[in-house]
Amino acid sequence: MTSSLGDANRLELAATLWDSEADDTLVCRAVRQETHDVKTFVLTPATPGRFAYQPGQFMTYAFEIDGETIHRCYTISAAPTRPNAISLTVKRVPNGPVSNWLHDNLKPGISVKALGPMGSFTCFAHPASRYLFLSGGSGITPLMSMARTYHDLAEPKDIVFVHSARTVTDIIFREELELMARLSPSFKFVPICEAANPLAAFSGLTGRLSLDQLKLIAPDFMSREIFVCGPPPYMAAVRKMLEETGFDMKHHHEESFNFETLSAAEQAEAIEGEIALDAPDAVRTFKVEFTKTRRSIDVPDNMTVLEAAKRAGMRLPSSCTQGLCGTCKSKKISGTIEMHHQGGIRQREIDAGMMLLCCSKPTSDLVIER
Ligand SMILES: Cc1cc2nc3c(=O)[nH]c(=O)nc-3n(C[C@H](O)[C@H](O)[C@H](O)COP(=O)(O)OP(=O)(O)OC[C@H]3O[C@@H](n4cnc5c(N)ncnc54)[C@H](O)[C@@H]3O)c2cc1C
Ligand code: FES
Repeated sequence: MTSSLGDANRLELAATLWDSEADDTLVCRAVRQETHDVKTFVLTPATPGRFAYQPGQFMTYAFEIDGETIHRCYTISAAPTRPNAISLTVKRVPNGPVSNWLHDNLKPGISVKALGPMGSFTCFAHPASRYLFLSGGSGITPLMSMARTYHDLAEPKDIVFVHSARTVTDIIFREELELMARLSPSFKFVPICEAANPLAAFSGLTGRLSLDQLKLIAPDFMSREIFVCGPPPYMAAVRKMLEETGFDMKHHHEESFNFETLSAAEQAEAIEGEIALDAPDAVRTFKVEFTKTRRSIDVPDNMTVLEAAKRAGMRLPSSCTQGLCGTCKSKKISGTIEMHHQGGIRQREIDAGMMLLCCSKPTSDLVIER
């Protein structure tokens, strides 16, 4: 009796929306083993609260690992239709510092710091009656969030969900996707396995996604809104395939999990920087010193610190490169900057001397703790 009253209170309290500006702490409540190298971590606010986000969006987390704070982005694999908890679904990356730490250390009761939700890769921004979701490996997470959302909303959406995995035992969320396909006649799930697994039978499609396979799975794919997420070579192959068939790429949307991929904004900035470098008289150059790596570089006043550091061969953490995700957040020890962020840093962090390297240009010499 007491416990059910307690649960009712929890639900009532949870009517408050979680605001990552005001509170950045989330608590791990459950861990699920999805495949041999993929786990899902379920998180809630420390005091009950609801999350509001669009399916396909991600959060940026700050993890304390061996005395160092490391930032990474993870898609919300849960659906906003079940707003009391979010989840992240993480694949181990061989020797990857964060994914392995999460698998080995994040357990119920442990808190993590999070910022978000953020990102524009969402079906809500591109309403359509027929979708084609193409995913590879852990790139399934944003598409799973979208599929779960439409399923819960009982929206009459016609969705074809194609997932490419290495072997049958690598298919993430297989049972749930098969169940959704059984329950909804307008939802089709097609896994494709690259290689056979001698320990697990699979009678579905094999190899890498080809145009012939796509025509077989979704003969009307040319008139669908297409969302793609997976490893960069997979996404490049899909892009090429669609372009070659004359697909109208306005209806193609993709998300990359790869830190090194340059965004259009970053490319434009790089070109701008190159022009500036060719006309050195037109720009001023400042000295930027990184204390931890003991590097010192020259940064033109019209180039971001991150871009200049990349050109100097430094590997600094970054993701969105647009001041959104907070991955490149660093402590500024001295100097002045011009920063144009898009929510990836809080005012109180700026007041405490933090900056985002990807969207800050120097206005004096700088010393940065990195
Ligand atoms: C928008 C977005 C959504 C994502 N969603 C998911 C998801 O749903 N599931 C999932 O499994 N992955 C997701 N990722 C990838 C995830 O953020 C991590 O890159 C991945 O888990 C591997 O991290 P890692 O540290 O283990 O491995 P690494 O491959 O070593 O790290 C990835 C990158 O981080 C940098 N890096 C490496 N070491 C360090 C270090 N010590 N300090 C700082 N930076 C370092 C490097 O630039 C490297 O390329 C997403 C990425 C983005 C950008
Ligand atoms: S890389 Fe995302 S805020 Fe800088």
